Amino acid sequence: MENLVFKLFLMAALFGISLTGTIPQIHSGKCSSNPLFHTVEEKTCSEFNSVQEMEKEISAVIEESVWQLTIENSSFDDFDMKNVKLPERFFFLSISNSKIKKLVSGAFKTLALLDTLELKENQIETLEGGAFSGLKLLNLLDLSKNNLKKLPKDVFLSLPRLINLDLSQNNLVKIDSNDLKGLTRLLQLNLTYNKIEEIESDTFKDTNKLQDIYLNNNQIKYIHENAFGGLNKIISLTLSDNKIEKLQESVFKGLDVLQELHLENNLIKDIDKLSFSGLGNLKYLNLSNNEITNIPENVFGSIQDLFVLDVTHNKLSEDDIKLLKNLNNVQQLYND
Ligand SMILES: *[C@@H]1O[C@H](CO)[C@@H](O)[C@H](O)[C@H]1NC(C)=O
Ligand SMILES: *[C@@H]1O[C@H](CO)[C@@H](O)[C@H](O)[C@H]1NC(C)=O
Ligand SMILES: *[C@@H]1O[C@H](CO)[C@@H](O)[C@H](O)[C@H]1NC(C)=O
Repeated sequence: MENLVFKLFLMAALFGISLTGTIPQIHSGKCSSNPLFHTVEEKTCSEFNSVQEMEKEISAVIEESVWQLTIENSSFDDFDMKNVKLPERFFFLSISNSKIKKLVSGAFKTLALLDTLELKENQIETLEGGAFSGLKLLNLLDLSKNNLKKLPKDVFLSLPRLINLDLSQNNLVKIDSNDLKGLTRLLQLNLTYNKIEEIESDTFKDTNKLQDIYLNNNQIKYIHENAFGGLNKIISLTLSDNKIEKLQESVFKGLDVLQELHLENNLIKDIDKLSFSGLGNLKYLNLSNNEITNIPENVFGSIQDLFVLDVTHNKLSEDDIKLLKNLNNVQQLYND
């Protein structure tokens, strides 16, 4: 027994594994991998000071078996991976907290099988057109916590398989109807914590498979006619924590299967009597923390099974509340 422990200890020492550390790591320069897995399939690198340094180091440590690479705490500016030879089956790349300011055209074009690309917590301001070209199989793109103000035209056109796009915590002021062109399979879009001011007509016309859109914590004041046109698969729409003042007639028209609508923490004063028309499948509607003074008669009439309705913290009269209490399609009414 003692002999075995000694042998293990010796082996560990030989590989440079610390027996006291929580996750033993095999180090090699600025990169390490986790030997708990049988093969060294993942590498984590940090503290590169330039793309050239990264290219050199990575080329030296990447074996054919590596499929996942994480780079953290580096300092890049302009970024591309054009000169890094990565294994063929490579499919996960994460570069976070590395001060990237610009992604150059074709930055990832050699990574034809890449499934996940995380670029969160950088300072990306500029995406060159073609920044994502060649990523034909990409499923997930995370660009959260960057400095994007504007998306270049057709920038996502090269991502036909993308399912999940995270653009949260940037400085986007506007989403143009062409910005999302090409994302025909997108299911989830996260735009929370940007500075979006309005939703224009047909913004989502090319992303008609979308199921969840998060637009909360923006500066949205105005939703144009047919803004959500074409979203006939959307299940959940989150517009809370914005500055919406008015819900026009048929503003949610076409959202046939929408189940959950978040409008809490806005400035809604006026609801048109046809505001919610077309929302035949809605189950959850949160209107709390608005300025609603008056609910037009029959406004929820077209919603057959509205399970939850929250109208707390508004300026409704006793009569309005009484009217709501009489609705037999609402199972759970929250009011104050
Ligand atoms: C990057 O920095 C964070 C914060 O200092 C630290 O927790 C993390 O372990 C670093 N990552 C690497 C790979 O060294
Ligand atoms: C959307 O982004 C916010 C902010 O980055 C994050 O907290 C939230 O979890 C994200 N939502 C989803 C569904 O990924
Ligand atoms: C509606 O939103 C408010 C504010 O975020 C939240 O406190 C409340 O729990 C929500 N209501 C329901 C019924 O989920």
